[in-house]
Amino acid sequence: MAKLNYYEIGWFLDEAQCPCDVHFVRYLASEGLRGKSIFHFGTGEHHHVGIACHDAGAGNAVLGITASPREHDFYEQLVIERPEVGRTYKVLFGDIYQLDTRLMPDLDIASLFHIGEFRTEKNDSYGALTDDQMVRLVVSKLRAGGLMLLYSGSYAYDVAERVSGSLIAEGVLEPAGSFESLRVFRKLT
Ligand SMILES: C[S@@+](CC[C@H](N)C(=O)[O-])C[C@H]1O[C@@H](n2cnc3c(N)ncnc32)[C@H](O)[C@@H]1O
Repeated sequence: MAKLNYYEIGWFLDEAQCPCDVHFVRYLASEGLRGKSIFHFGTGEHHHVGIACHDAGAGNAVLGITASPREHDFYEQLVIERPEVGRTYKVLFGDIYQLDTRLMPDLDIASLFHIGEFRTEKNDSYGALTDDQMVRLVVSKLRAGGLMLLYSGSYAYDVAERVSGSLIAEGVLEPAGSFESLRVFRKLT
């Protein structure tokens, strides 16, 4: 029986190697985005996005996903110690390539920084979504005018560009600028 493609390790915050989450938090502040519903792919064990969104007091709510039990353990400890953070920051343990559209909320912003980085034949072994299908599912939950953000520093950015390029060509998304290492796309309809 195929097992879930999950990670024994967790990722700590290493801004020099992977600044996407730090840039994302700065982007939200610089744009003055408030009261938004945010989906965040890849929490890290640091949970920087969820914690910083709470601490910023801008009323943004974050739904994160991780495929690392260790990162989920850190989340459990976080909400035990700081229940006020858990009020607006929820983290799902599982494979993003198994999302079900019926179980996803409507979104204003989706950060999909790790498209293509971790999707392997292990995910195929239990019929998981492809990168293209996963991105389309998440984009389908964005409200019109909602934003999808990608990380140009990803080693699999070619995959992210291919998928976003298709959605632009189909008139689903349009480029909406950049911020530090991030590329921003707006949903048109
Ligand atoms: C390289 S770490 C980056 C973490 C954080 N975004 C940062 O920049 O520090 C990749 C993250 O993606 C998550 N991840 C990888 N593959 C995943 C999958 N198939 N489903 C859900 N989360 C996944 C990992 O659990 C981890 O949180």
